[in-house]
Amino acid sequence: MPEHLPPVEHFLGETFPFFPNHEIVEHIGSGAIGRVYRAHAAKLDGDLAFKFVPIEHLPSHQRERDIHFEEARKANALENPCVVPYLDVRFWEDPATGREFVVYIRQYVRGSSLAQFIHANRGNVELRFIEQFLSAMLGLLFELDQRKMVHGDIHADNVLVTRSRYNLRGDAQFRVTDFKPTEDGQSGDYLGIALALKGLLECVRYEEQRLRDRYVFEVLRNDFLGRYLVGSHPTADDHAFNPRRLQSKLESVDEMFSAASASRGPEAAVRAVRR
Ligand SMILES: Nc1ncnc2c1ncn2[C@@H]1O[C@H](COP(=O)(O)OP(=O)(O)O)[C@@H](O)[C@H]1O
Ligand SMILES: [Mg+2]
Repeated sequence: MPEHLPPVEHFLGETFPFFPNHEIVEHIGSGAIGRVYRAHAAKLDGDLAFKFVPIEHLPSHQRERDIHFEEARKANALENPCVVPYLDVRFWEDPATGREFVVYIRQYVRGSSLAQFIHANRGNVELRFIEQFLSAMLGLLFELDQRKMVHGDIHADNVLVTRSRYNLRGDAQFRVTDFKPTEDGQSGDYLGIALALKGLLECVRYEEQRLRDRYVFEVLRNDFLGRYLVGSHPTADDHAFNPRRLQSKLESVDEMFSAASASRGPEAAVRAVRR
C-alpha cells in the first residue's frame, strides 16, 4: 500500500450488516488500495472474498458510486469460466471511525495469486502448466475481443491459481479478478498476459526439460512472447493479437514438433525454432 495512504483497519473476526451471515476469518491479500479477506458463512459452509477499499484511496474519478458497479457488471457479463463473479458491491461506513468503504464481494478462490505462485516455484514450473495458463488466457481474450471489452489490468497479481485435489487430471485452473471499471480504448491486456508468461518461462529449468518441452518453450518464448502478444512486431504474422489463431497454434505444437522431428530429428527441430 502506498506510504501516503492511511492503512485499512483489520476486520478479522467481524461481521457486517450488509452480509450478516458472513464472518471475516482470514486476510488473503492486499493490493494497491484495498485489503481482501475470506468471509465464511457457517450456516452455508461457504466462503466469499470481501475487498475493502476506503473511498479516499480511490482516484477522484472513481468515487462515483455507479463506477464500482460497472466493474462488477463487466465481470458478470463474461461467460468465460476464468472470470471470478461478483456477488455484490456495497458501500459501508465504519461506525467506529466514520470511514467510508467500497466493499467488493466476489466468489472466493482457494489458492494463490499467480505472482505468489511464480515467486514460490522458481525452477519448478512445467511446460504443461504454462500451456494451460496461456490457453485459459486466450479463451478470455477471445471473449473480451468478441465483446469489444478489455479487462484493463491483467497481471500476475490479478490472476489466481487453484488446483483441486479431486481433479482427476491434476490440472491447475486460472481465475481472473480485479477488472477495471473504465476503458480508455487502449488494451494492455495482451501485454499483461505476455509479462505473466515471461515470469512463468523464467521459472522453467530449460536444461532439465525433455526435447518436446524445450521445443514448446522456444515456440512460447520466440513466437508468443517475442512476436504475437506484444506491440507491433515487424515479423509478426496474422497470429498477432488473434486469440483464435494463437489457440490453434498452441494446440498444434505437438504436431509441429513431430513433423519437424521426423524430417530433421528432435534436436535440430528445437534448434530451428530457437532464434
Ligand atoms: N476472489 C478472490 N479469492 C481469493 N483471493 C483473492 C480474491 N480476490 C482477490 N484476492 C487476493 O487479494 C489480492 C488483492 O486483490 P485485488 O482485487 O487485486 O486488489 P487491488 O485492487 O488492491 O489490486 C489478489 O492479488 C489476490 O491475491
Ligand atoms: Mg489487483
